[in-house]
Amino acid sequence: MDIVFIFEWLDASWLSELARTSAGVFSMVQAVHILSMIMLCGMLILGDLRMLNVVLTGVPSDVIIQNTKKWIYIGLVGIILSGIYEASAIAMKLATNSFFWAKMAGLAMGIVFLLSVRSAVYSRAPEVIGSNGPQSDAVEAWVVKLVALANLFIWFSVAANGRWIGFS
Ligand code: HEM
Repeated sequence: MDIVFIFEWLDASWLSELARTSAGVFSMVQAVHILSMIMLCGMLILGDLRMLNVVLTGVPSDVIIQNTKKWIYIGLVGIILSGIYEASAIAMKLATNSFFWAKMAGLAMGIVFLLSVRSAVYSRAPEVIGSNGPQSDAVEAWVVKLVALANLFIWFSVAANGRWIGFS
């Protein structure tokens, strides 16, 4: 399906006009994009490194996963809204930019992974099940660690492709 019309529509929108003409607003939205990334990736990294037994090993992992969830969603909303604004300024460049498409594919994969595999596996981490319920539901520790590494890799690739758009 040809979706270039979406980029043409964005390019001709008032949002694009504002993004191109107001450097001050654009800089602030750029700052929001980066701060949202810090929030989103910071919270993800915290949960993943906990599952790899690198940080906060004295805190139960389910406490960390539960308490970071809300901030992950807030970060996601902030980064998507600010990203659309930034994209409106260079919509026609992005339509054919392979790093942008790699980033969008990574973002879609990251969200699906987060809501399905990561949350399902982390809620069945051996130590969580050990304190709350039957051991039979627990997944193997190596599976939890593999999920943590996969999640870190996916979001790193999204951020790296985001930065690379500027160099391309
Ligand atoms: C719908 C979602 C998103 C859209 C439409 C979007 C769009 C953009 C655009 C247009 C730029 C400016 C590229 C340039 O000209 O330098 C950018 C920069 C960037 N984005 Fe995103 N983005 C989104 C989500 C994300 C996510 C989820 C991350 C990280 C996890 C991310 C990380 C970055 C980074 C690191 C930069 C470079 C910032 C800079 O050098 O100032 N973006 N994004």
